[in-house]
Amino acid sequence: GAAGLRQEGQKEMIAIQLKIDGKEVKATEGMTILEAARGAGISIPTLCHHEDLAPFGGCRICVVEAAGGGWSMLIASCIYPVQEGLEITTRSEKVDRMRKILLELYLAHAPHAPDLVELAAQYGADPDRFHKDASFCIQCGLCVRYCAEVKKEHVVGFVDRGVNKEISFIPELAARHCNGCKACFPLCPTSYLQAAFVLTQALAFPADH
Ligand code: FES
Repeated sequence: GAAGLRQEGQKEMIAIQLKIDGKEVKATEGMTILEAARGAGISIPTLCHHEDLAPFGGCRICVVEAAGGGWSMLIASCIYPVQEGLEITTRSEKVDRMRKILLELYLAHAPHAPDLVELAAQYGADPDRFHKDASFCIQCGLCVRYCAEVKKEHVVGFVDRGVNKEISFIPELAARHCNGCKACFPLCPTSYLQAAFVLTQALAFPADH
């Protein structure tokens, strides 16, 4: 109700000062490091993040170095909350090394995904470092979470395929909900979602194929 809204409004007013890449940044309590950085015009790469969805922290590409009183560690900036006095470094040897190896792993799954190829060039990631196991799904969960959180449906979900988790549409639900929606399609950082949907269509509407 109104009281709840007021409380939330008050909470948002608590100012937090932190440093990102040497720049003093003003944020408010409850924001993530990623939001504070973007608000200050500092870009951090992301794969599984979406503004309309709850933070997930799945891909780790948004890793940054966080330092406080005598400690420093690598954190996922899309889920880590801002804290007073925190010092964030968005590019460092450690950060870049972590992003490079993550990209090499994802490229083994989706070697031609444009977002991955572009980031790989930026971080010097070797697309041939790992044996190619093209599943095309990098498990960012964007489609699954968008369907559940924004569309309030569960047409697409994670399934276990042996050692690999990947996404799959439920044909009966897809037949009912997907044709008029497809809002998750542009969110997929690889081509997997569309391939999975084509398969689903073949299963759900066999007469058309
Ligand atoms: Fe932060 Fe994926 S964008 S973990």
